[in-house]
Amino acid sequence: MQEKLLGRKLTACIRTFGCQMNARDSEKLLGILEEIGYVETESENADFVLYNTCTVRENANLKVYGRLGYLKKCKEANPQMLIALCGCMMQEAGVVEKIKKSYRFVDIIFGTHNIFKLAELLYRHLTEGGMTADIWEDTSQIVEELPVERKYPFKSGVNIMFGCNNFCSYCIVPYVRGRERSRKPEDIIAEVQKLAADGVSEIMLLGQNVNSYGKTLEEPVTFAQLLCRIEQEVPDIRRIRFMTSHPKDLSDELIAVMKDSKKICRQLHLPLQSGSSRILRLMNRRYDKESYLKLVDKIRTAMPDIALSTDIIVGFPGETEADFQDTLDVIRKVRFDSAFTFIYSKRTGTPAAAMEDQVPKSVVKDRFDRLLQEVQAISTEICAAGAGRVEEVLVEEVNTQEEGYVTGRLSGNAIVHFPGGPELIGTFVKVRLTEAKGFYYLGEIAF
Ligand code: SAH
Ligand code: SF4
Ligand code: F3S
Repeated sequence: MQEKLLGRKLTACIRTFGCQMNARDSEKLLGILEEIGYVETESENADFVLYNTCTVRENANLKVYGRLGYLKKCKEANPQMLIALCGCMMQEAGVVEKIKKSYRFVDIIFGTHNIFKLAELLYRHLTEGGMTADIWEDTSQIVEELPVERKYPFKSGVNIMFGCNNFCSYCIVPYVRGRERSRKPEDIIAEVQKLAADGVSEIMLLGQNVNSYGKTLEEPVTFAQLLCRIEQEVPDIRRIRFMTSHPKDLSDELIAVMKDSKKICRQLHLPLQSGSSRILRLMNRRYDKESYLKLVDKIRTAMPDIALSTDIIVGFPGETEADFQDTLDVIRKVRFDSAFTFIYSKRTGTPAAAMEDQVPKSVVKDRFDRLLQEVQAISTEICAAGAGRVEEVLVEEVNTQEEGYVTGRLSGNAIVHFPGGPELIGTFVKVRLTEAKGFYYLGEIAF
């Protein structure tokens, strides 16, 4: 009806914060919105604005509150605009109360367990008015076959499991994403087949700990078995990636399957978090420095060309200079292709938040700077060593910085910019890496 009054289609804008899980949820949410008649727009000055939030670190949380101030102004100028919030932050204790009290202009709030209800909640809001909030504590339900509007036509994330049972002591994810549950292999394969038929050639299997996939299914399946099935049963998929691998559950079977695979990318994200066995114990990670190094050795022996990336937290409660030196030691020994470095952020309700001995800000900052320097120096050296090689690249987009250039991704996940036109997008081409630029390459098509 509003569409008729306005004489145009209603527009919707989804802003996604956080990880690949949220990115995939946003594709489903956009799928639902398009199904009920909205068209997507990039601008937040839209008829419907949805923030899919993250709360893994406090920064992510503050960013959302900051932007809500801006949305308030947009809504003052355009009163029929609808504002909705969803995602991990909404599952956190106290957040919905705070929004109800201080951000009254928000129309709809829902959480991570009921994204499939978006259309219903929107209808409820339009018919009943007021703030519509629906948050579920947890769920054992997996809703299959939601409509999806993918960001890229040629690549897609695929959830293989939801939630997390690991309870690393610093992490809020198990509280906001609920208990671990795996999708059935048949459902995953059917989705991948559908994606392949729709032009997708690269998939990223998503889970907080993919190595424990399938353990709780009625008919248990290992992650390695799932990978084999996808590789064999969906011929049109040319690249398979996955995120994230917890070191404690990475099996020899997985290493063997990766080694023999033609499709699994030569890339492994293996979060270290800390190099100190003492801190790892406090973090409840269930591996230590030695076993992590041994695991890396095993992986590298099987696949010498694999690109390894990691996550590291500095400033976990009680971290001493000696603990930090252990982290640097692992970094120097493993030599990661890339590392995401984070300053420890206290998350209310997690065991680490109650630990004494929180490290002073200035000490953490100093360690963080030293860590970053080390990580970057190593990445630059590894990148430089790759120059001159010819690699297969999946072309992802037109380069916005350099006219006449496109951007593609190598099997190891590094990026290369090279001369080419939009017709190459979604295709695989052989590219010579002509120049290393620290963490990306310049290249040219190799004939
Ligand atoms: N399931 C994934 C991690 C998901 S969160 C895994 O276990 O590897 C992504 C990263 O955020 C984590 O690897 C960790 O490095 C970081 N992180 C999580 N909680 C954090 C916190 N409280 N403070 C700082 N970094 C944190
Ligand atoms: Fe958080 Fe640990 Fe679960 Fe990863 S495995 S999501 S870090 S609790
Ligand atoms: Fe953030 Fe939720 Fe992902 S807290 S990192 S969006 S699972």
